[in-house]
Amino acid sequence: MLTSYAAHFDTPAGYLDFARFGPPSRDAVAATARAMEESAGADHTTVDTLMGAEGVARDTAARLAGTDARHTVLLPNASTGLFHAALGIRDGVVLAPRTDFPANHYPWRRTAGLGRATPRWLDPAPGGGVTPDLVRAALTDDVVAVSVSAVDFRTGFRADLAALREAIGPDRLLIVDAIQAFGVAVMPWDAADVLVAGGQKWLRAGWATGFATLSDRALESLEPVLTGWTGVEDVGLFDGTEHPPAPDARRWSITNLSPVTAASFAAALDLVERHTVAAIEAAIAARIAELTDVVREYGGHVLSPTDPARRAGILSFTMPDHDPSLVAKSLHAEGVTPTVRTDSLRLSPHASTPPEASDRVAAALSSLRN
Ligand SMILES: Cc1ncc(COP(=O)(O)O)c(C=O)c1O
Repeated sequence: MLTSYAAHFDTPAGYLDFARFGPPSRDAVAATARAMEESAGADHTTVDTLMGAEGVARDTAARLAGTDARHTVLLPNASTGLFHAALGIRDGVVLAPRTDFPANHYPWRRTAGLGRATPRWLDPAPGGGVTPDLVRAALTDDVVAVSVSAVDFRTGFRADLAALREAIGPDRLLIVDAIQAFGVAVMPWDAADVLVAGGQKWLRAGWATGFATLSDRALESLEPVLTGWTGVEDVGLFDGTEHPPAPDARRWSITNLSPVTAASFAAALDLVERHTVAAIEAAIAARIAELTDVVREYGGHVLSPTDPARRAGILSFTMPDHDPSLVAKSLHAEGVTPTVRTDSLRLSPHASTPPEASDRVAAALSSLRN
């Protein structure tokens, strides 16, 4: 546990569902309340002042992604970014894993329906993920992009982004959904042409927060199909004419976001930057290793990668001879919050998760033997 980081949170010890939702810090809650209160007493300065949080959040997200503000845009969630990317591709084939979260499926189904980019689904080995070999085997001349999750929502498989970049060459786009990794895994984000993340999970910023970064290649090649009135040049000039899209990542702006959620996002990103991704990652890795031992000790079958280099903060497992809903019942009785699926369970701790969480899981799994 990263004690100085943990001191910012009131999350119960047994909360192990960060891959679904990351309870925000007291800092994020206070920033939200403050912004909302200020908006309630608005005068002629208030809206502009509150909107300042967007610049702060964008700059911090850019630094954490290893890029700059010109290549970064705030978004309300990861899915909006994936739709921007998908609709920006005129035609060709896009490789995406069939096993991915459906947020990385529907944009490609929609573009196929529009006669633009069409998906070709990749089938990773069970418990694995998108490897350079899998991509290489599917590469044909008509493939224009590959769209993957940095960390798989189901297994926690951590993609080798640098190797994927190398496998597809410099001319195809690498689109990365980083929602299960950003802020908690040190990864080579500069390998991606498009990086999207929502802030409601591991970044612990609450819902309706997120961002995307675009490489120069992405800025050049993606058509700005969804550019709205806030994504153009001379935003404040309402002259009835069509303005060109902004030259930078702001072209992905459809309209103004909430300055209230931006305040929360800025506070959340600041916490990550101050405590460092590397330290957060190390604390999570220690807890994952411990939880893996516990699951194995009580006869569980681990579905996540065993190689620490290929996993992140997600541990999926089954308990042979026990329905996941019954395992969940025992975990709930010990104050543990897992993700419960029909075929498996998922535990996802954060750097604030104390060792006590593993004891609680052990107590729950041992009760299954009685
Ligand atoms: C890998 C992945 N991508 C996208 C999403 C959805 O993100 P958003 O609600 O920000 O679009 C989720 C989970 O909800 C997810 O696990």
